[in-house]
Amino acid sequence: MSAVCSRKRLYESRIIQEDIAELAKNLKTYHKCFENQHHLHHKKLKAILLDNFITGYEQQIISDENITFRRHNVIEPFLTDEKIDYIIHAAGIASPVYYTKYPIETMDVGTIGTRNMLELAREKKVKSFLFTSSSEVYGDPDNQYVPTREEYRGNVAVIGPRACYDESKRYGETMCSAFWNVYETPVKMVRPFNIYGPGIRPDDYRVLPNFIEHALRKEPLPIHGDGRNTRSFCYINDGVESIFRVLFSDANGEAFNIGNPEPEISIEELARYVQKAMPYPVDIVKIDPPHAVYSKSDPKRRCPNITKVSAVTGYKPRYSLEEGLKRTIAWFREF
Ligand SMILES: NC(=O)c1ccc[n+]([C@@H]2O[C@H](COP(=O)([O-])OP(=O)(O)OC[C@H]3O[C@@H](n4cnc5c(N)ncnc54)[C@H](O)[C@@H]3O)[C@@H](O)[C@H]2O)c1
Repeated sequence: MSAVCSRKRLYESRIIQEDIAELAKNLKTYHKCFENQHHLHHKKLKAILLDNFITGYEQQIISDENITFRRHNVIEPFLTDEKIDYIIHAAGIASPVYYTKYPIETMDVGTIGTRNMLELAREKKVKSFLFTSSSEVYGDPDNQYVPTREEYRGNVAVIGPRACYDESKRYGETMCSAFWNVYETPVKMVRPFNIYGPGIRPDDYRVLPNFIEHALRKEPLPIHGDGRNTRSFCYINDGVESIFRVLFSDANGEAFNIGNPEPEISIEELARYVQKAMPYPVDIVKIDPPHAVYSKSDPKRRCPNITKVSAVTGYKPRYSLEEGLKRTIAWFREF
């Protein structure tokens, strides 16, 4: 946590304020929640945020009269008298380094945490419930299944360095689906593919913050292994926009890939993008993967087919990798 303690609050960031205003503008025609919203202080919308800060940090919390923050571990039931219309269950431990450190907590939040949030949704008779699952439910797909469609059933190890995360997300989806089938709780599931951007923990250790942190320290960008594995990266505003579009849709019981398939690039190519985006030269270095989670089980390719989310919600990615990187690096420098 020390790396983030001295930093100012995220909502004070110019880049994040611009992103929120842009997001509200883009969603205005999609749902009445976003009408007349040009900034964070929107009178019609109230939110309760829950986080136990296992990987989150206090500076991420927005201080606003319409937003209440409660430090809460979702593996405990959440009790409230408030009326609740929508629930987004995004609690999770998503960075391989952190889920390796906290495997039991990772499984608990995906299983018991998901059950508790679903029980709350059922009790409150919410209009919609959204679970952020993961592209990791697909495991390590064979080439013929990339770009990956929602129907693909996955190539996932039950025991292995990534299993605590992958299997808990798979179970979470099954639980959501059962709540729709048994109680008609209006659930939706999204499977994010490498969403990045301002606000991410600088010491999150996922590839992009890792490259940017090294670049800002003028240290070589460390590529684990040969750098040939591919990913496709999605800027945070596109990710959040697609989450709201799915939340406000009628697609109950459905799972959607969310992300930006363009471009699918190798990690080495990504390092070159970061190099180009920096105002001074930085080197690239290939290193032995520091951990089994990268050396033994890193999926070779990761790229979504987003036809389903586009057809159902009208979502289209707006940010190129160059633009998203520029904004993310600017935010890292701002902080
Ligand atoms: N960013 C991505 O590319 C990506 C990809 C696939 C899936 N996801 C999923 O989307 C969600 C959000 O991801 P993110 O990248 O914003 O991660 P994040 O780490 O920024 O946010 C997740 C938050 O959940 C909190 N949390 C974890 N366990 C908790 C618990 N038991 N109770 C309360 N809070 C808890 C953490 O403290 C953290 O602040 C996660 O569920 C993640 O698994 C993200």
